[in-house]
Formats: sequence, structure tokens, C-alpha cells
Amino acid sequence: MASDTKIYSPIETNWSYDAVVEKGLTFTSPSVKTFQAYSQPLVLKKGQGQYLWDVNDKKYLDLMAQNLCISVGYNHPLVNGEVKKQMDMLTHSTAMYVHAVPVHYAEELAARFPAGQDWVVQLVNSGAEAVDVAFMMARLYTGNVEMIALRTCYHGIQGSAMSLAGIHFFRQPVPPIPGILHVANPHPYRGVFGTSTEAYLDEIDRTIECSTPGKVAGFIVEPIQGFGGVIPMPKGYLSGAFERIRAAGGICIVDEIQTGVTRTGEHFWGFQMDDVIPDIIVLGKGIGNGFPLSAVVVKREIAEAMAHRKWFNTYGSNPMSCAAGRAVLRAIDEDQTQQRAKEVGAYAKDKLQSLQAKNDIIGDVRGSGLMLGVELVKDRATKEPADEEAGRVVEAARDNGVIIGKGGAMGNMLRINPPLCLQKDDVDFFIEVLESSFSQL
Ligand SMILES: Cc1ncc(COP(=O)(O)O)c(C=O)c1O
Repeated sequence: MASDTKIYSPIETNWSYDAVVEKGLTFTSPSVKTFQAYSQPLVLKKGQGQYLWDVNDKKYLDLMAQNLCISVGYNHPLVNGEVKKQMDMLTHSTAMYVHAVPVHYAEELAARFPAGQDWVVQLVNSGAEAVDVAFMMARLYTGNVEMIALRTCYHGIQGSAMSLAGIHFFRQPVPPIPGILHVANPHPYRGVFGTSTEAYLDEIDRTIECSTPGKVAGFIVEPIQGFGGVIPMPKGYLSGAFERIRAAGGICIVDEIQTGVTRTGEHFWGFQMDDVIPDIIVLGKGIGNGFPLSAVVVKREIAEAMAHRKWFNTYGSNPMSCAAGRAVLRAIDEDQTQQRAKEVGAYAKDKLQSLQAKNDIIGDVRGSGLMLGVELVKDRATKEPADEEAGRVVEAARDNGVIIGKGGAMGNMLRINPPLCLQKDDVDFFIEVLESSFSQL
């Protein structure tokens, strides 16, 4: 039995690059290999602020933040301190007991949403689970079935989130959840209706008229589509869409898993760019700064719809993750993260636009704050996607010490989503690296 005096033999880890890669190939499921950043795996060992080191001690500037999970920076003293404090007291307390840390977190999180609403919080394990719960609440509350989502949206890869995905390669060929309708996503650069926001809103009306009983359960939207290709919703789209969905009896769900906690610089939450109040907000990634934490923030009357049957998950209210969540909210205020995302993001966007002026391969630069995307095209007139070239830029940047993302529904986007502690001299460095990567194309 464990005791304070018993001495355990240390658990050894083989940190050699070859051994780690070999073990990964041998012991992890082949599905894990379908989503890898590089042709040669990157094996990481430690992080600090906006930097990472691999197992061979090579340093990188990280522009992907573990797919936007690291918000306030790696190894943040407040976050790590709060988690360690909690770890020494109690590592877990499931939701069937009440623990002080998750309930404080729920209160502090709810306070970050527009006043005048009775917000409640349901803590869950992952973004996809948050989406699943939100979807179920929408159906239960409205009594309607159909959910409207956007083409090229991404809301996760499990359960109903996978059926919502508007990108074919994220969907397994199994029967999808019925009742999901995809409408054209507004996209000034490539969208089927060009730059007219009204035309995309008309599409929602037409879809409700032609493909539903005239009533819908709801609508789900990312304020800036992330995996889909860093596609910001144009001004007026969220408010127009919400009006139409509510007129058809539905509720409006905003997925802030990438855009939340000040990433877009302008606001704390992405939906604030259009001055709307959603009915449900799903959160994940950056709210935990790398600790597994996701949440559904919902108006109480809607959450009541799920209170007639039992609901439980094992890890949703883990107190260590919730301690991290509380510390993230505090660190955002004390580190003035939003201001930094705004200033450094604007500086980076400006430099990327200068790069665009010199490189024909850059078709578009878009995004807000520290959620930026650079779209590569073979030809600016035809906009043929430069997918393979994007891959070469990403690999060359890695060689030169910069981790940058590749994504988009056509695989031709460079994605820049760093920890929110990025500095202007980091921007100067990565622009230099990108410049040299483009010159090698
Ligand atoms: C916008 C968005 N929603 C939902 C999810 C799903 O989150 P998770 O991977 O935690 O299930 C993601 C993950 O990348 C995401 O980017």
C-alpha cells in the first residue's frame, strides 16, 4: 500500500527521438497518424511562454499553440501554481460530489458573459462533447429537430460534432446524425455568393423554407472558422442569421473553442464582434491553457430542458483543470492578453500583407488578433489552391525554428495562432523565416 515513507523505483522514459517515434508507430492506433503536422514527426519536450523545445533541444517559436490550446503561454506561473496547489489536495472529484473549485470556476466563467442573462455552466471533457451537449439542449428545448451548420465548419470529430463537420475528410463513412443541414458559409474571398452578406443570409431563409418543417432546433457557428480556413464571419452575418433562426423557433449556438478568451484581440469572445447574444456558447482549448477543460455556457431556461433525465460525465468537473481555468481568466486580466492580441496581431497582419505584396503565391491574408490565416494560391486570378507549396513552407519554417500550421478545407492555408504572449520581435523573426521559405519555393 502507498505510504509517505515507501520509496518507489523511478519510472524511466526514453527521450531519444528514434525510440519515441518507433514506439509511436508500434503502439498508437493508425488513426493517430492521419493528422500529423510534419512528414518527420516533431517530438516535443518542454515549453516556456511562446517557445517550445524538441527532444534534441532545438528551440522553436510556436505559432500554433497546440491547436490553440495554449492561451496565456506555456508553463504559466499562475496556471501551473494553481494546478499544483490543487493536485496536492485532491486530484479528482467527479460531478456527483460538489467541489469548491469547479463551482467557483462556473461562477467566474459565467460572469464573463453579457450581463442581464441567467448563465449556467456545464463542464465537459472536450470540445466535441460540449457541441454534443449543446446540440441536444437545442433539440430538447425547442422540440425541433433540424440544426443548421455552415459549410467548411469544424466542431470536433466525435458523435454529433462529426456529423456537423462541413469538411469531408473529417467525416467517417458511417451513418451521420439525421437532421443536420449545411448552408453556404460567407466567405468574401472564395464564397459561392461572393462578398454579399445578404446573399448568404437569404440562403438560411431558403434552407428553412425548403428543407425543414419551417421550424429548426438551432444554428451553430464559429465567429471565425478555424480549421475551415480562418474565415471570419462578416459584420452583420451573425446578427442576421440569429434573427432568422429565432424566427423559426431555433436557438443560436456559438462555438468559441478557437475564438474565445481574447484571441481575436477586439473582444473577449468572438461573437461580440457582431453585438449579438447567443443562447449557448461552447468553449474548450484555450480556457484550460493545455489542461483538459471544456464547457457549455447556456441560458438557464435552455439548460432546464436537460434536467428531466440523468446526466453525468466522469472528468468534466476535474478540480485541477478547473483550477487551471480560474487561473487562465485571472492571467488574461493581469497579463493584459486582449490588448497584446490586438496590438501584436495587427502588427503581424500588417507584415503579412507586406509579404503578400511581394509574393504572388499569397492570395489572401485574413483573420483578427492572433488568429490569422494566409491563403496560398498557384494563380491569383484562378485562385487554384497551392496545397503542396503550403506544405513546403511549413516544413521549411520548421527547419528554421518556427512552428506554423497548415490547414483549411483545401489544405492551402498557413495558420498563425500563437500563445497570446507573442511579442513584436517574435513577429519580426517569423516574418523573416517566412520570407526565406517563400524565396525557396
Ligand atoms: C472550433 C472547434 N470546435 C470544436 C472543436 C473540438 O474540440 P475537441 O478536439 O476538444 O473535441 C475544435 C477542435 O479543434 C474546434 O477547433
